[in-house]
Amino acid sequence: MIKKLLTIENIDVYFVIGIIVFFSLLETISGFLKNSNRKKGDWIQEILSFVILGNLIKPFIVFFVFSLGNMFLPEYRFVLGDLSFKGILLGYLLVDDLLQYWYHRTAHETRFLWKLHRPHHQAEEMGYFVSYRNAFIYYLLMPNIWWVALVLFLGGAKAVALGLILKQLVIIGSHSRIKWDKPFYQYTLLRPIIKILERIIITPTFHHSHHGTSKLEASSDPNGNFGNMFSIWDQLFGTATFHSTYPTTYGLQQKTEDSWSASYFYPLIKSKDKKSELSAGYKKLNTSSLNALTVPLTKRENYLWCACGMSKTQPFCDGSHHGSKFTPLKFSVKRTGNVKLCNCKKSNRTPFCDDTHIKLKK
Ligand code: FES
Repeated sequence: MIKKLLTIENIDVYFVIGIIVFFSLLETISGFLKNSNRKKGDWIQEILSFVILGNLIKPFIVFFVFSLGNMFLPEYRFVLGDLSFKGILLGYLLVDDLLQYWYHRTAHETRFLWKLHRPHHQAEEMGYFVSYRNAFIYYLLMPNIWWVALVLFLGGAKAVALGLILKQLVIIGSHSRIKWDKPFYQYTLLRPIIKILERIIITPTFHHSHHGTSKLEASSDPNGNFGNMFSIWDQLFGTATFHSTYPTTYGLQQKTEDSWSASYFYPLIKSKDKKSELSAGYKKLNTSSLNALTVPLTKRENYLWCACGMSKTQPFCDGSHHGSKFTPLKFSVKRTGNVKLCNCKKSNRTPFCDDTHIKLKK
């Protein structure tokens, strides 16, 4: 039955549109749209991105890979035809998801890719369409799309079609404001089910934490939980954190006014907001110094110490570390009072100063 369904041309596209419509209806019925603060630019960027991805970027990459394949490796065309459907599907999905895990993680850890992925994290409300919110070059460079084209060339069209449907169901479901996993955490009886499920696939709780504004909130981990369909890669590579509640704030610490055109067409179009990383000539400066900073801290309150040395609010993190491998350090103190915090970023007992800066001055 499934195999027969998969012979229908563009069946994956119909299903993906169906999934989007399904989540959009649920979000509308739940009243999220009415209480939304989304701007016109948010909708333009996400709809444009979805349309261009499906109608230009993907067909272009598939055409390009097929042309290269036919030219240089014609004997491999449709070579997978005789292999088991389940085997191809599993192989396709696992490689696809591993590629996307590393691409997504690299986008958080390198400056140029971060600027292409940044619009995705600018969204201050989650929603079914947020998953399509990236600059167009981000999609052009996305290894998964090239992988899809390769598997199609090798003859895995049906596996790709079903794989894409399953993947989009998980991805759109984990971006949506419909928190389908919430009851599983609320009812003790259901909890074991979600504990197993969240160790396999990406749930809304797991992915919403990645979109949380700051690690200061226990349910947020903007520098972790990079997975797309399976959470196994985050667990394997040490970036998984599991939560049972949702962040209260989403988006970036640094708010900027970027037009939808700058967000989508960067670096061809730059932001007019001079405070934005997407503006022309924007540079992140080193703001650390060889002087410790003494600051008043309150006991048991949580703070984020800047580890990257680029924050404009030293010694605390202001989100400037995005696009680098640095992550802020969360800490608290046992006594209220003035505390000397490290600002040379070289202390052996960070976030506290151990006078390493004095040695560095010599
Ligand atoms: S600004 Fe966050 S770690 Fe430096």
